[in-house]
Amino acid sequence: MSNPYQTAANRTAGFVIACPPDVAQVFRDHDQMDALCALLEEIADSLPRPQADACTEAIERLERFVPVHVRHDDDVFARLIGDVHLRERLTGQHNEDLGLSQELSLALEPLAAGGTTDDPDALGYMLRCFFNGCRRSMLVEELAIQAALTPRAGPVGVPN
Ligand SMILES: [Fe+2]
Repeated sequence: MSNPYQTAANRTAGFVIACPPDVAQVFRDHDQMDALCALLEEIADSLPRPQADACTEAIERLERFVPVHVRHDDDVFARLIGDVHLRERLTGQHNEDLGLSQELSLALEPLAAGGTTDDPDALGYMLRCFFNGCRRSMLVEELAIQAALTPRAGPVGVPN
C-alpha cells in the first residue's frame, strides 16, 4: 500500500533550516517516525507471518523512540504554540499515540519471538490505526509549527 503522505523532509523542504534547533529536531524526529510508520505498514501488509526481525525492530522503536519524541514535541509546543486548545489537541493526540504504541509493542512480542498472532485482522487494524494516526498527527504538528513561526504568512497553504 502506498503512503498517502509525503515524508517529513519533503513536506517541509527548506523550512527546517530556518527553525530554532529544538523545532528542527521535531522535523528530524518525524523522519524517524515516517520510517517507523513504513516498517509497521510492512508488518501489517505481511500478516499473518511478518518477519520476526522486523517486529523486534518495531518494538525497539516503539518503546525507545516514540516516548522520547512525544515528550520533546510537547515541550516544544508548550513554548511555541500559544493557542491552548490547539496545544491540548496536539498533546491529547500524543497521549493516544503513546497508549497505542505500548499496546502494539505488547501485541508484536509473540511475533518477534517467532510465534504467531491469534487474530491477524485485529493486529492489522491496530497497526493501521497507529501509523495512519501518527502520519496525520505529524502533518498537523508541522502545519501548526509553520503557522506559529510565520505569523505574517496568513492561513497556512494559502498563497499571499
Ligand atoms: Fe511529532
